[in-house]
Amino acid sequence: MQGSPDIEAAAFVLDEVVGYLVPAALRAAAVTGVADHLRNGPRPVAELAAATGATEAGLHRVLRLLATRGIFTEAAPGVFALTPPAAALTTDAPHPVRAAVLMMTDPAMWRSAGEVAESTLDGKPAFDRIFGAPLFDHYARNPEAVAAFNDGMAQYSGLENDPVAAACTVPPDAHVVDLAGGQGGLLCAVLRRHPTATGTLFDLPHVLPGNVLAADPAVTGRWRLEPGDFRTEVPPADVYLIKRILHDWDDDTCVRLLRTCAAAARPGARILVIDPVLPEGDTPHQAKAVDLLMMTVMPGHERTAAQFERLLATAGLRLTRIIDIPAMPVSVLEAVISTTG
Ligand SMILES: C[S@@+](CC[C@H](N)C(=O)[O-])C[C@H]1O[C@@H](n2cnc3c(N)ncnc32)[C@H](O)[C@@H]1O
Repeated sequence: MQGSPDIEAAAFVLDEVVGYLVPAALRAAAVTGVADHLRNGPRPVAELAAATGATEAGLHRVLRLLATRGIFTEAAPGVFALTPPAAALTTDAPHPVRAAVLMMTDPAMWRSAGEVAESTLDGKPAFDRIFGAPLFDHYARNPEAVAAFNDGMAQYSGLENDPVAAACTVPPDAHVVDLAGGQGGLLCAVLRRHPTATGTLFDLPHVLPGNVLAADPAVTGRWRLEPGDFRTEVPPADVYLIKRILHDWDDDTCVRLLRTCAAAARPGARILVIDPVLPEGDTPHQAKAVDLLMMTVMPGHERTAAQFERLLATAGLRLTRIIDIPAMPVSVLEAVISTTG
């Protein structure tokens, strides 16, 4: 019967199942670069189509859906304008997200995420089957794909690097290693806050040339690059930053990586794991969605505080505190080498 709780519940599910078209539309907006053409004010969709090379009808339909989510607004019939979230899609936004949207909706992620059901059944990352190799091996062989991933990842992390750096305890003169630090945005933010600290950006060899440290005069002379594979060795440090890495990997690989850090660490070292911490139960968290991406593209998974504590303990580390970052989906988990064995 219309309006019954049963119908409402069923209709809710049907609303949810078409939700995947929102990120698809976001990708269309990012690919066309339509937001850049609205920087000077509202414009008719016909003009936007001509400026972006899109079809008028297609672009209208994409913008109309996004406008229902507050991303763009239909200021007058057939005339669209930026909203604050749409402005973040412009190239020169203070906190741009276009490359991050392209990375998260790239076929590497999108096709894999479409196979959550298969990964749920066989327990394996769909990515390896679809693309014929594990994610980072695939990137090592595809310079264009890895450049898009690194740029997108840097933008994604760009929002959280400063608040995370503010939450990291770094003693004076400490040597900080940003382990698998990508383009080094977090290391750069940490070195800016701690003018007597030095740092090493450690990542796979093909990733390091894109680093942001070289462009920042505030950190000149205080950093070095070290290519390597964290599964075998890592440089010595007083502080290890391990951001958005453990969620990529299964527990055995994480334990191996953390033990490698503990073995290389200088006396009194701190290991700072920066990852989402999953709330228990039904509490919503962005990482409950990202977890399914981890399930389909990598062998990893997101973790609760209790899971992190157990993982660290298995690697001979003691979790000393968890610092949540306001308004960001990640926390800083501080650990030290356990003295109780
Ligand atoms: C999800 S990204 C995180 C990057 C950065 N820490 C951040 O938060 O933006 C994972 C990083 O791990 C690096 N990586 C993957 N496998 C690695 C390995 N075996 N050794 C060193 N780095 C690795 C990748 O190149 C990539 O930069």
